[in-house]
Amino acid sequence: FKFSSENEIKFQEYVSRYPVIDSVMLPALWLVQEQEAWVSPEAMVYVADRLGKTPIQVYEVATFYTMFNLKPIGKHHIELCKTLSCMLCGSKDIKNHIKQTIGIEPGQTSEDGLFHLSEVECLGACGGAPMFALDGQYHEKLTNQKVDELIAECKK
Ligand code: FES
Repeated sequence: FKFSSENEIKFQEYVSRYPVIDSVMLPALWLVQEQEAWVSPEAMVYVADRLGKTPIQVYEVATFYTMFNLKPIGKHHIELCKTLSCMLCGSKDIKNHIKQTIGIEPGQTSEDGLFHLSEVECLGACGGAPMFALDGQYHEKLTNQKVDELIAECKK
């Protein structure tokens, strides 16, 4: 693993921005995930090397935060909120619609490798319930039609 040239520039910005190198670990891991869609053991060793840390120190952080994917997932990651506001506003209907249209349940990746669905706790956008994050971008007040449009965009 190695940062892309674009992410290398971002990494250097983080290093100059934060007064303590430990603070760069989370954004560095996020860059890895943006680049590869998951954080591999190889990438953890790379980040450790870049930050002057041991691989176990990076592993501890990467495994603590549930937003880091520690296994390969689909190209597009749908994180569907299942907490109270979203549940009351129809997140189960959205989940069923995703199941019908893409054929996956939470924790699964579509056969074509395009989509992975996760159910997550509140993402702090309760006013826009039901909602999900698609590749880290929030989409609120979801309807089946809106989900279809987003899926179609991803397939382009
Ligand atoms: Fe879904 Fe808060 S309950 S974003």
